[in-house]
Amino acid sequence: MEGFYEKDCPQAEQIVNEVLMKNLKKDVTLAPAIVRLFSHDCLVQGCDASILLDETPSGEDVEKKATPNGQFVRGYDLIDEMKERLEAECPGIVSCADIITFANRDSLVYTGLPTYKVAAGRRDGLSSLAKNVENNLPVPDTPVQEMIDIFKRKGLTLEDLVVLVGAHSIGTAHCGIVRGRLFDKRKSMEMDPNYAEQMRFMCQRDDNMLPFDPVTHNKMDSRIYNEFLSKRALLESDHALAKDPNGNDIMKKMAADQAAWFNKFIGATIRMGAIEVLTGNQGEIRKQCRVVN
Ligand code: HEM
Repeated sequence: MEGFYEKDCPQAEQIVNEVLMKNLKKDVTLAPAIVRLFSHDCLVQGCDASILLDETPSGEDVEKKATPNGQFVRGYDLIDEMKERLEAECPGIVSCADIITFANRDSLVYTGLPTYKVAAGRRDGLSSLAKNVENNLPVPDTPVQEMIDIFKRKGLTLEDLVVLVGAHSIGTAHCGIVRGRLFDKRKSMEMDPNYAEQMRFMCQRDDNMLPFDPVTHNKMDSRIYNEFLSKRALLESDHALAKDPNGNDIMKKMAADQAAWFNKFIGATIRMGAIEVLTGNQGEIRKQCRVVN
């Protein structure tokens, strides 16, 4: 619901924005980090901030311990800082799930997306399980049909998938994640040879960071699709979508019309932000985002 906090915490979105802007001044890479965090939260057990939990009541491994989240999903401290400010000003009102959603919108706007209204009222989940991650979060070598099926189960279409992976217009991947593909003879044959060479050069240590968009990796723009369509995708998954006839069609349209991509991106993000949300009396409003109350 829009304006959900109007009565009890009208400054909620403002506070999230202030903390984000303050931190982006020190580290612009937090914007892509938050955009990724949001998608990883929503795709696994819905947008319930389950990704933030350090432990779960059953004592099992939590989502953030699962390999695809592992050490490379960032932004937890930033969300903690937002939550602390919010608890100081309006205790027990604003959910961690809504904080992530507001921060995601503001990070996207910071990197160039037009602004849009975020519906709120999500409540925080009571559990987080690493074993839920595997079948819900695509990884770079997930086949196209499997990615489509995962998104379909969440109510998202192939077009949503292709539109959303355009988020790889911002941010970076770790060399350790893409090395296998870059140095695999058969897989790298499918890449633009100059690009592959350049990426191999940049990928000498596993912790080196490689931009998805070699030209504008701090800016959301639809030029990333030209890279994907020209065999210059860093991730196998983005390359596979560019090779898929339907994916290819959609990418061509998005590359040619940035305004249309922005619109579709906003629509798909709003739909992603509504996946399996908890409302009313479900879940809780956590006092701290890393632990259940
Ligand atoms: C559907 C298939 C997807 C796959 C296989 C995938 C995979 C990845 C991988 C491997 C990384 C690099 C992680 C690292 O090495 O640090 C990454 C980064 C990123 N992903 Fe995706 N992703 C997918 C979809 C999405 C979606 C739907 C979004 C958001 C709408 C998204 C947003 C991002 C962003 C912004 C980054 C950069 C993070 C940073 O710079 O810290 N991805 N993704």
